Amino acid sequence: TVYPVILCGGSGTRLWPLSRKSYPKQFVPLIGETSLLQQCAKRLKGPVETPYAKPLLLTNEAFRFVVPEQLMAVGIDPGPILIEPEGRNTAPAVLAAALHLSSSDPDALMLVAASDHVIPDAQAFHEAVAEGIRTIDERGDLVTFGITPDRPETGYGYLKLRQIPDASGASIPLDRFVEKPDLKSAERMVSEGSYLWNSGIFLFAVRDILAAYDQHAPDLVAPVQNAVDQAQSDLGFLRLESIAWNSVQDISIDYAVMEKASNLSVVPYAAGWSDVGSWSAVQELSNPDTNGVATAGEVTAIDCHNVLVRSESPAQEVVAMGLENVITVAMPDAVLVASMDRAQDVKQAVTALKAKG
Ligand code: GDD
Ligand code: MG
Repeated sequence: TVYPVILCGGSGTRLWPLSRKSYPKQFVPLIGETSLLQQCAKRLKGPVETPYAKPLLLTNEAFRFVVPEQLMAVGIDPGPILIEPEGRNTAPAVLAAALHLSSSDPDALMLVAASDHVIPDAQAFHEAVAEGIRTIDERGDLVTFGITPDRPETGYGYLKLRQIPDASGASIPLDRFVEKPDLKSAERMVSEGSYLWNSGIFLFAVRDILAAYDQHAPDLVAPVQNAVDQAQSDLGFLRLESIAWNSVQDISIDYAVMEKASNLSVVPYAAGWSDVGSWSAVQELSNPDTNGVATAGEVTAIDCHNVLVRSESPAQEVVAMGLENVITVAMPDAVLVASMDRAQDVKQAVTALKAKG
């Protein structure tokens, strides 16, 4: 059985002022009518003929009510919701999920997904997962899903292919996994053509990923096991025990396990994927018209080119006139006006505002 494991504890700052620490981007209707978490949970119901199990969700204390509320709103009954007393990044979170699943189903497969990605073609995604399942059956590998890179992005992991993909979509064994390279290395890898980006979605046999933690990240295992064993169950939430949990190292699965493992494969994924990392990505995903004008909410754009203009409160009319390469996001309490070229720098706004106090 495939158990979706949805990570929804992160809080990005590059989509300020819509994405806030108290209400990050996965909970906001960013593209379309529903939130990215809701779209993710719907996709992870799996194919109609062979649905996946109920999703396991991991989040932190602050979001514990939002998560089930948003799932119920789209008719999805959440499985267990694991609460992390403090964020410890993805390596401890995935390990906690694996330990929890292994206690009830030692043969479980876990499909680890970020809650804040846009993947428009659910059917193609399910086919990629099916190929991942075949790969686990045949080779016992840890499976990643790879995206063809189109720029030397330094915020992603890179997957070095052992052979060039054919058109069949078949999985390919990996030579290695390189997390967040520096710009020089990223440029070299993109020009070499034998690398894919790591989408941040993983498919593991629970047994295999536990073995990988034992081998590559043994220091995480005992404290996370303790936090899971002593978790308090309360109204459908499973609250990880905080003393053990808080003693765990803060590290991502990419550094803790994937960079070190040698039994890796990738399923190439070409049907569209975005981690919606910036406002310029939102603009591209928001059906811009032929002038590159993308809007949301009560917006009138006159003579604009390559803009994103969003009004985030129902009674707030926003008019943009004669703008080029501009992002405007108007919230009731904060407005961003930025050059499109500076989309990656929006996190600086958050730093600057924090410094102001
Ligand atoms: N529950 C929980 N707890 N979720 C978390 C935590 C945590 O402590 N930290 C992060 N997450 C969630 C985030 O909300 C996001 O959905 C996902 O885990 C990945 O975390 P990010 O912090 O966004 O990772 P990243 O973008 O730097 O890098 C990862 O994703 C890239 C693709 O978007 C890596 O896997 C890269 O290799 C990959 O290319
Ligand atoms: Mg991310």
